[in-house]
Amino acid sequence: MKSHEMIELINEFMRKYAKDDTLKVWLGPELNVLMANPKDVEVVLGTLRFNDKAGEYKALEPWLKEGLLVSREMKSHEMIELINEFMRKYAKDDTLKVWLGPELNVLMANPKDVEVVLGTLRFNDKAGEYKALEPWLKEGLLVSRGRKWHKRRKIITPAFHFKILDQFVDVFESGSRELLRNMEMDRLRQAKTGLNLYDWINLCTMDTICETAMGVSINAQTNADSEYVQAVKTISMVLHKRMFNIFYRFDWTYMLTPLARAEKRALNVLHEFTEKIIVQRREELIRCGNKEVDTFMFEGHDTTSSALVFFFYNIATHPEAQAKCFEEISSVMGQDNSTPVTYELLNKLHYVDLCIKETLRMFPSVPLLGRKVLEECEINGKLIPAGTNIGISPLFLGRREELFSEPNSFKPERFDVVTSAEKLNPYAYIPFSAGPRNCIGQKFAMLEIKAIVANVLRHYHIDFVGDTTEPPVLIGELILRTKDPLMFTLQEHVY
Ligand code: HEM
Repeated sequence: MKSHEMIELINEFMRKYAKDDTLKVWLGPELNVLMANPKDVEVVLGTLRFNDKAGEYKALEPWLKEGLLVSREMKSHEMIELINEFMRKYAKDDTLKVWLGPELNVLMANPKDVEVVLGTLRFNDKAGEYKALEPWLKEGLLVSRGRKWHKRRKIITPAFHFKILDQFVDVFESGSRELLRNMEMDRLRQAKTGLNLYDWINLCTMDTICETAMGVSINAQTNADSEYVQAVKTISMVLHKRMFNIFYRFDWTYMLTPLARAEKRALNVLHEFTEKIIVQRREELIRCGNKEVDTFMFEGHDTTSSALVFFFYNIATHPEAQAKCFEEISSVMGQDNSTPVTYELLNKLHYVDLCIKETLRMFPSVPLLGRKVLEECEINGKLIPAGTNIGISPLFLGRREELFSEPNSFKPERFDVVTSAEKLNPYAYIPFSAGPRNCIGQKFAMLEIKAIVANVLRHYHIDFVGDTTEPPVLIGELILRTKDPLMFTLQEHVY
């Protein structure tokens, strides 16, 4: 939306909906009131009663630091709690309406509605938030629509065939060996304070996705300062900020920020790199092109590393589950730690599989999905106007008591074949989304997570450093993470 359109829209809304020159606008769960009556303005600005600044001012912080202008903020984890509370209080038929500026957003939490939205190709267009991804991913699979999406999906699907996945296991094996070297180095340095596994794991998944998708090694794990690795990190940070900070959302204000310049520099590095690779490896890559390589870079490494860190958190805080994983891994892989993991062996890790699934229920790497409704429609009796954004939250669904008993407890057994939670509720358990536009990398991701888990747990017993009585505070950005890093100590297994 252009800036002048915004002003015209506000004028129109003022004329149509304001009462006593006052317009109410829901922005997420926050009520915003636009006041246009000088008498009201006098009350607000004329005294110190209304001294707290609105959330939008947060974007000014990089320049103003702790200066006078900014004094109040709302943390993302508070946002998640607020959504939960609003859902409980205000949702009708498990559906919450939220006005975000002049756009209607509907958060759906009923698996029956989720099925209608995700189960067919009727709602194949992505919500406005995904626009921030376009400068990087262009028309890649994640953001493309219509026939273009369909064509690409068909071309790429064979790349995830199990015969091809089989070959990727070698890459997961060598990537996780490098990870072990970094972990061992860090363990010796920080034996007592604990180490932040996320950073090491993230470099590892970056290496594996590059090697599998592009056939080149970027050696992120041995060369974390390289231009490409830094550019991937910058762009992920930029995307998070653009999607979740209203100030960065509109192009006209965004273009003025230092963030936009950082994004441009990083994009140059990323696109130059992928183009160079494509030229070098024209033959093999000709079929999917650089857009998909970029899409895999984005979808394929932060998601997997987020899942892995939450997995280690869950088993570190549930020693009985860790012991069972260790026993299973030892009995399947044998006592010799140097035996490489293989596709067949990983497929035998049944209990580890349950723990990964349960982790993704509690901590889905993608906490929110969005679709755009192009034409007015009806979903299970609810009339949805054209232009509405539909939000579906795998995080919220996975924690609903009506769908999963004791939703905040880690209970891997609920995914066991007999009572499998995912089979009972295919549209309630949706960490990989569902339907025709689900995650194309699901099997790849599960296999990679298993390979890394198997190699790490064969070597180390993992303990969590920190308060185990309080759950970690979550930040619901594009990819789920925690407010503070999760810290662990490692003890070598003695056979
Ligand atoms: C634990 C790891 C992962 C999780 C939880 C995850 C989750 C998801 C979700 C929820 C979507 C749907 C997004 C939406 O509708 O907006 C998605 C789409 C996608 N994912 Fe994943 N993903 C993971 C790993 C991967 C990996 C490793 C790859 C590639 C190697 C990948 C490639 C893709 C692609 C290309 C799409 C777009 C598919 C389409 O629109 O047709 N993902 N993923």
